[in-house]
Amino acid sequence: MKNHGAVQPSLRIAGLSENGLTALSEARARLRLDGTEVIDLSEGSPDFAPSNTIREALANACKRPDVHGYSAVQGLPSLRSAFLEHLQKRGSDVTNVECIIGAGSKELIGHLSQALLGHGDVVLVPALAYPFYRAAAQYAGAEVIVYPLTDDGNYLPELSRVPDEILSRTKLIWLNTPHNPTGAVLPADFLQDLIHFCRARQIVVACDLAYSDITFERDFAPAPLACGDRSSQFVIEVHSLSKNINIAGWRVGFLVGDPTIVSYVAQSRTVFGGGSFVPIQLACRFALDHFTLLASEVRETYRARADSVVRRLEKAEVCCVRPRGSFYIWAATPDGGCDVAFSKSLLDKTRVLVTPGSAFGTAGRGWIRLSLTRPPEILDKAIDRLVEFCADHSVRPKDAIVNDV
Ligand SMILES: Cc1ncc(COP(=O)(O)O)c(C=O)c1O
Repeated sequence: MKNHGAVQPSLRIAGLSENGLTALSEARARLRLDGTEVIDLSEGSPDFAPSNTIREALANACKRPDVHGYSAVQGLPSLRSAFLEHLQKRGSDVTNVECIIGAGSKELIGHLSQALLGHGDVVLVPALAYPFYRAAAQYAGAEVIVYPLTDDGNYLPELSRVPDEILSRTKLIWLNTPHNPTGAVLPADFLQDLIHFCRARQIVVACDLAYSDITFERDFAPAPLACGDRSSQFVIEVHSLSKNINIAGWRVGFLVGDPTIVSYVAQSRTVFGGGSFVPIQLACRFALDHFTLLASEVRETYRARADSVVRRLEKAEVCCVRPRGSFYIWAATPDGGCDVAFSKSLLDKTRVLVTPGSAFGTAGRGWIRLSLTRPPEILDKAIDRLVEFCADHSVRPKDAIVNDV
């Protein structure tokens, strides 16, 4: 018999956990409603326009009459092979890999989770992580277990600390390099050892490389398919053009690796979605021919912003991590106080919105994430306000009582 009350969500939707962002989003919406200007350093959406050349390529592609119908769910063959060539140029062995295009890497993370995971499967996610790995795994019905990261400032996965009983039940592990939120980059030899460790246990290594080219000590981050024996077995890389060449709204990502796994993801995409808009794919094909230049413009923009923000924070003795990549600054709250209380009070008193660290996992308590996706003069203004706020000791240890999100 049907219950005639309010419509209930599916168990999948009801099971999704909230995070610390909800309360702040509400506060931000309230402030916006009353017309208050907020400096939003919580978002990961690039603030500047993509290069003229790729916008023109998209406009020209749109003018073609023959590109407006449905397209293949895996993506245009010419774009897929161009992306594989792009990876090959940076040392990846692409002889035994498959590639599928998706509407951004987030969608592909969702499809990979749907394609591989279900009840009874364990997924390992980093102690500090982009929240969507957890949400996507929960949505697929899997059990999420957090693995520790080293506390030496390098934030390296410590799988030796995960009990064998858990490893034996694990189907998939998420890596993210450059890392959101800390900006850490995994070294090639570390990746190689980790892949051997996981492959020996038949654990799929899924490496999220959404910020692969926003790296400050080299031009791009080491990637699993370019490491060690370069075999694709049990290995998946998830790439994105959103941040690397600044076209977040175009929604273009690539899932590359073990052909069997990629074929399962294609099946999931067939059920839930369809091929991406062809002019966007054609413009991305063009972008790959000019990738070095496009990516270096983006990289240098964020390098300058990261340098300036870190310098200001260090000068004011606000503890922060100098990022090796990505476009975030990971900073400690004064006295290690509650990050949610700190962020709320910061927003209230200074109109600067940051992300509380616990939105990335309980290991983020006492930390905040600042996004560098604002112009330099706005970033300067925000950092001045943050520094002054910290110096005022507005947040005291007594605030650090409740930190559950
Ligand atoms: C670590 C990480 N992975 C993936 C994504 C998703 O990016 P997109 O779907 O635009 O490719 C994001 C977005 O912020 C991210 O921070």
